[in-house]
Amino acid sequence: MLGTHTPTQKMLELHNATVTFSAPGGPLVRAVDGVSLTIPSGQFVVVIGTNGSGKSTLLGSIAGTVRLDGGSIHLAGHDITRWREDQRARLVGRVFQDPRAGTAASLTVLENIAVAACRGRRAGLSWATSRSLRAEAASRLGGIVPGLETRLDQPIGSLSGGQRQIVTLVMATWRRPDLLLLDEHTAALDPAAADRVVQATARLVREHNLTALMVTHSLAQAASLGDRLLLVHRGRIALDVHGAAKRRLSPDDLAFRFDRLRSADQLDEAAARSLSELYV
Ligand SMILES: Nc1ncnc2c1ncn2[C@@H]1O[C@H](COP(=O)(O)OP(=O)(O)O)[C@@H](O)[C@H]1O
Ligand SMILES: [Mg+2]
Repeated sequence: MLGTHTPTQKMLELHNATVTFSAPGGPLVRAVDGVSLTIPSGQFVVVIGTNGSGKSTLLGSIAGTVRLDGGSIHLAGHDITRWREDQRARLVGRVFQDPRAGTAASLTVLENIAVAACRGRRAGLSWATSRSLRAEAASRLGGIVPGLETRLDQPIGSLSGGQRQIVTLVMATWRRPDLLLLDEHTAALDPAAADRVVQATARLVREHNLTALMVTHSLAQAASLGDRLLLVHRGRIALDVHGAAKRRLSPDDLAFRFDRLRSADQLDEAAARSLSELYV
């Protein structure tokens, strides 16, 4: 969005990114462990991994909620490693698991969209509440879920979780971010609503040719969506598949990979236990 970037370039580049957490008196946790990753402009990347493998920390380190303690991050031609979260928000759109995150329940759908549309702009509320914004909001919402445009003047808190996630997606992509980060944004929804939100996501990413990183717990989504799949394990990228190999992946293949990692973990834990027993 800052105008120094051409579309054919790599959009996101992590070099040896590391995030370490330390609980007082507890062990150090390397939540992101020396990750290097290059994502070209327009690529839709799906991220999976077991609980606690570091997916949210990886996304948080890109969005700026978590600081790197080693390595660097470049986005859209900028070295953003030391940028604050609010500075990165000019380039990054985000949607979280909780449909209530990122929107104000007491504001109407249109007012919420106006806040997203005005972010970082000088134009005041007169523009935000103008007819052109209303028409644009109606067209974008109705284009994804026919009928949703009739809810513009209702409090966003009155929408279902799935509808609210779709409004949040429209808000996050309103100004065509350089990068869209989605962290299990369908996990709190029932299967039918999750499916609608996933379809809306795929459509928005394609229509706006967005670069996106989407974390999901659903192996079916991971197999069917996106151009590339990353499997994160213990803060590292254990599998990186794209192109024809990505298109061939089935949910069963992924379940098999998960099982292998889990049993490797159990072996590790058993080894650690037997080691610690040696020292008792
Ligand atoms: N703020 C934090 N403070 C301490 N440890 C954290 C913090 N956030 C995450 N962790 C730890 O980092 C690891 C990765 O967590 P997370 O990125 O949330 O995993 P995932 O999203 O894959 O479930 C876990 O061991 C988790 O307990
Ligand atoms: Mg997470």
